[in-house]
Amino acid sequence: ILGPSSQLNVVNAVVSPDGFSRSAVLAGGTFPGPLIQAYKDDDFSIAVVNQLVDASMPLVTSVHWHGIFQRRTNWADGTSYITQCPIPPNSTFVYCFNALGQTGTYWYHSHYSTQYCDGLRGPLVIYDPNDPLASMYDVDDENTIITLSDWYHNSSTLLNPILSAVIPNSTLINGLGRYAGGPPSPLAVVNVVQGLRYRFRIIGLSCASWFNFTVDGHRMTVIEADGVETLPMVVDSLPVFAGQRYSVVVTADQPIGNYWIRALPDLLPNTFDGGLNSAILRYAGAPEADPATTPGPYELEFNESLLRPLNNAHVPGGAAIGQADVHINLVPGLTNGTFYINDVAFQEPPVPVLLQILSGARHPSQLLPNGSVYELPPNKVIELSFPATDGLPNGAVGGPHPVHLHGHNFWVVRSAGNSSANFDNPIKRDTVSMGSQGDNVTVRFVTDNPGPWFFHCHIDWHLHHGFAVVMAESPGEAAAQESEVIPRKYLATST
Ligand code: C2O
Repeated sequence: ILGPSSQLNVVNAVVSPDGFSRSAVLAGGTFPGPLIQAYKDDDFSIAVVNQLVDASMPLVTSVHWHGIFQRRTNWADGTSYITQCPIPPNSTFVYCFNALGQTGTYWYHSHYSTQYCDGLRGPLVIYDPNDPLASMYDVDDENTIITLSDWYHNSSTLLNPILSAVIPNSTLINGLGRYAGGPPSPLAVVNVVQGLRYRFRIIGLSCASWFNFTVDGHRMTVIEADGVETLPMVVDSLPVFAGQRYSVVVTADQPIGNYWIRALPDLLPNTFDGGLNSAILRYAGAPEADPATTPGPYELEFNESLLRPLNNAHVPGGAAIGQADVHINLVPGLTNGTFYINDVAFQEPPVPVLLQILSGARHPSQLLPNGSVYELPPNKVIELSFPATDGLPNGAVGGPHPVHLHGHNFWVVRSAGNSSANFDNPIKRDTVSMGSQGDNVTVRFVTDNPGPWFFHCHIDWHLHHGFAVVMAESPGEAAAQESEVIPRKYLATST
């Protein structure tokens, strides 16, 4: 476990989390990377040290702190070619920021090309010493982290060229799993004591798959989504898309024994045979054996449009789609293995967008990449709609696509599967599924955080193949804020 002031070494190592050995790119030498843990309003100062040596994969890196808004510290957002140049080998980049009141469950990952698919992903939790949820639900333990990820036997270097060739080999839960036809590699065990209540923090570290998360014999009460506290919603299953997080309360109220934890991916291999896509919930006193439990019944389904924030705030702007200060349709397309948004495929600019702004560029006509930069005025209500218009069988041009906005979370005023909108009490989150054919998911946020912010599909392969735009929020203010003197406390010693 690392604290908010720490050193994170990015290294190559051979790992076999599912029984198959490959060279990986790892934070701190493990998969997933070490938990970064802090308290509300802590100053972060994380020195990312690039020690990469395996030239069969990229040797540069940068690290993004997913879900942290980076108010006044856009430069620390970690996005290669948006807010910084990639960190060269044998170099250190110190990320200094304060999450300014944000608490809950987050994660960090490489934001250089598709490097996080090679392993550089890990959990980040900000605890609140006066957590309203802790008292509301009286949990006995809030430290259980359950990461869900897909895993690939080939490096991203080999997988990048052809979108349709990218298929995960296995699902890892807390970094352990099995692949079809592979050895009975050890599975992750989540330990509980009968009679106690637990807050499980479920983190979607995925590069592509989304997971239907279930625990045999146990219901879950959702209390947090993407760092936002929610009113309790009791569910039997939870869809977790790449980039999304949930906290759920689970009561260990069943007979002492072993129970399957299941994360069924949308992509192959989507079976539980042989312990695929599984981990073990083990009660103290139970034998060290595989569970013999069966899935379901699944009666209570998660419904994002019914999830309510604990602290409700009416959505700014008018109470109808289109009644915001700025409305932007972001229409995805897919042609010959390349994604487009409004007919433009994102390509990395030669100079990071933030540096272009610092050099005086202000407007999309001056900012690269051409056609992928949207300028947003300050202090306005922005509404984004994502019409899933394509006629492919899965809808949404090969989706569902989980789209993520940096620098903000947003009110999901219209969720997937809904034609009506909610301006009274929708959930706020930072990653949302666009749904499928016929959906037109719509979100709102207020431009109160100057800087260029990436908006993209969190299926990392899709981002690589063009599914991204940059929201250049208040470029003039962004330039002014970057030129402020960096407070002394932010000057960390590099290694
Ligand atoms: Cu998880 Cu662009 O981010």
